[in-house]
Amino acid sequence: MKRIAIITSGGDAPGMNAAIRSIVLSCHDENIQCIGFYHGYNGLLNDEFSYLSVDLVAPIIQRGGTILKSARCKEMHQDAGLKQVANTLTKHKIDALIVIGGDGSFRGMMALQTYWSGNLIGIPATIDNDLACTDKTIGFASAIHTATQAIDKIRDTANAFERVFIVEVMGRHSGHIAFNVGLATGAEAILSFENCNIESLDLVKNDLVTQIQSQKQAHQNGFVIVLAENLWPNGPLGLQKDLQDTDNIESAVCVLGYIQRGGSPCPEDRILATELGIEAVKAAKDSTGVMIGKIAGQVTRHCIIRATEQNKPVDQALHSAYQQICLGA
Ligand code: F6P
Repeated sequence: MKRIAIITSGGDAPGMNAAIRSIVLSCHDENIQCIGFYHGYNGLLNDEFSYLSVDLVAPIIQRGGTILKSARCKEMHQDAGLKQVANTLTKHKIDALIVIGGDGSFRGMMALQTYWSGNLIGIPATIDNDLACTDKTIGFASAIHTATQAIDKIRDTANAFERVFIVEVMGRHSGHIAFNVGLATGAEAILSFENCNIESLDLVKNDLVTQIQSQKQAHQNGFVIVLAENLWPNGPLGLQKDLQDTDNIESAVCVLGYIQRGGSPCPEDRILATELGIEAVKAAKDSTGVMIGKIAGQVTRHCIIRATEQNKPVDQALHSAYQQICLGA
């Protein structure tokens, strides 16, 4: 094993830099050269790279974003793109490619297996936490922290004005962020894929209205609804309109958006990224088609197909806590 290439791909997540650092420092210990390609798979298409030295990565553990930049890459869905990426890897005599990213990035990696015979290793990094075979993905804990701090501030003004707030959080099509942030902020309601779908919208809205009205009578406080993105028709503005039009309930909307992806990674993400990076370099020597995860405190290797194809539901304990605390079930 002489050369490892690294890319960060898909939605950036706090802790990606900590993972790059960990890989480069681990490689240095073993005399393996590290090459970073920029802008995800695009860097491999366009042969845009840098050699990654210890000096370069030593001070980046606390930095959000990714020094290698990130992007999504449509060409990875086409044979021509995959061949070009394989050619670049062969040209640079790369023995293993480590992809730091989410499930879209890992699907690209699986497709590449047909055209390139080097070892392919995945490190799960996405704020969405929507990958199986790891309790948490890199970036998830930081995103929860950022969203919690933001909603705590919204809570102050919600209480002062006794206002209903609809706060949209990210998560793509999963509710890990919504449920965790909803519980951490004491939200009065959490609307996510796990407790709401297109057939149940009316029912969910009616329950919400009852909850808002009874809270208004009982205490003079705000009412915070944490809403998962891509859930309600027309998003938070759609829900706002539905509440206004049918039940005359006024509300304010706040979309947290990309602040959830930014900022310095929290210690949990830095440590997770460091551990996964070390194991990725070990795995790169003798395995391929593998994702490194951490389950119940143990760093583990899993078939990348299982990691991307298996569903990762929100923890049942979080549902139960929500039912009991918010809905008084
Ligand atoms: O996967 C991370 C994520 O931030 C999702 O939560 C969100 O739906 C998506 O990326 C946004 O993607 P883009 O950066 O392409 O707007």
